[in-house]
Amino acid sequence: MPAASPARRPRVVLGVAGGIAAYKAVEVLRQLTESGHDVRVVPTDSALRFVGEPTWAALSGHPVSTGVWAGAAEVAHVSLGREADLVLVVPATADLLARAATGRADDLLTATLLTARCPVVFAPAMHTEMWEHPATRANVGTLRARGCVVIDPAVGRLTGADSGAGRLPAPAEIAALARAVLARAGSAANANGTGLAAGLMPDLTGYRFVISAGGTREHLDPVRFLGNSSSGRQGYALARAALSRGARVVVVAANVALPEVAGAHTVRVVSAVQLRAAVHAEAATAHVVIMAAAVADFRPVTRAAHKIKKSDGDPEPVALVRNPDILAELVAARQPGQLLVGFAAETGGPGADLLDLGREKLVRKGADLLVVNQVGDGLGFEVEDNAAVVLGSDGTETVIGRTSKDLLSHRVLDLVTARLAPADGSVIAVSDSTRR
Ligand code: PMT
Repeated sequence: MPAASPARRPRVVLGVAGGIAAYKAVEVLRQLTESGHDVRVVPTDSALRFVGEPTWAALSGHPVSTGVWAGAAEVAHVSLGREADLVLVVPATADLLARAATGRADDLLTATLLTARCPVVFAPAMHTEMWEHPATRANVGTLRARGCVVIDPAVGRLTGADSGAGRLPAPAEIAALARAVLARAGSAANANGTGLAAGLMPDLTGYRFVISAGGTREHLDPVRFLGNSSSGRQGYALARAALSRGARVVVVAANVALPEVAGAHTVRVVSAVQLRAAVHAEAATAHVVIMAAAVADFRPVTRAAHKIKKSDGDPEPVALVRNPDILAELVAARQPGQLLVGFAAETGGPGADLLDLGREKLVRKGADLLVVNQVGDGLGFEVEDNAAVVLGSDGTETVIGRTSKDLLSHRVLDLVTARLAPADGSVIAVSDSTRR
């Protein structure tokens, strides 16, 4: 491992395989260089048929080569992988995945993959038939079992008129996932004061997470609702963090306007009742459920079929009925070995200590962990930052000071990881090659 220095920019090797989505990797490169990363691009020969060498060289500020013979004095086929903090392959074609899975070293990219000792993330893109082929499924399974992160492609329009699974996720979201991988290394390094901590490998491979995000809406009529201002940022940050550590992630998103997290399967819902159905359906096969969504405790007894008019006379009081407590239901129906995490948005108040409220809520809900976040003052809802005390059912209390939602997510996942049963020993069967 290279000696870490506090000033050092994180080093990313951006591998580009020969698929039409190579043009989108240009935007990934752009995003990463603009956020201060030192990016070396390693395309395959086929990738250069889609996007030429000058584009990669100009935007990365580094020379670009595809083979192991150029710049032999630098022994690039070894040094690039050794010195990287992250190797990110965008797009990963079926052929590249096959070559990586079988350990080929017939060009600079595959040689770099063999020498890398840092996290490796593949963002596949190909036609649906190729993605679903048993050979590709087996190669993906092999790479995941070795600790690589292979994100699922998005579902949508492909190269031609067809659509299906195999589309490259949005470049900005792939870059955000890369930053989440590096943020974990950065946060560990900050904790021990050593600069960037290389070599933090995925520790959630084989685990399946369900994460709720956003805020439910309880409609009074087709245009009005009772709701809250949750943006989904915290839930999406948790999803990104879990994916970056190798987990498979389903996000149940209530009214979230953010772009979908690259590699996650997103189920969209509006109301608490819909969120409940989606979470229960997905939780049956999940090792971890994190309820970061702000769920309405009440909903109107009736929903008017048409917009309620001002002219309809004096306003009627709105009769409300209690929504089911989804987290408490999950606890009651808990799968063996399953870990359940709640969030609590609290403002405190006269005579109401934040942590006392949290402790009472943890006991009432029965979760394993409750992330108590004080909202307001630039924290919690909508904003980029958060701060929390994580209460454990084992009596632990972990303070997480004000930080980004991405870093807070990694700290929460550290606490989750420490409490997880081994994936193999779990009674929750997850077949990596078939299940999303
Ligand atoms: O989305 P952002 O803008 O990033 O904001 C993030 C957040 C502030 C919304 C998030 O960090 C947060 O605190 N989410 C939980 C907010 C909340 O609803 O807390 P609560 O105290 O009302 O509920 C406690 C727990 O029970 C939560 O895990 C909630 O999902 C769950 N719950 C609540 C009500 C209900 N009927 N069923 C539930 O399962």
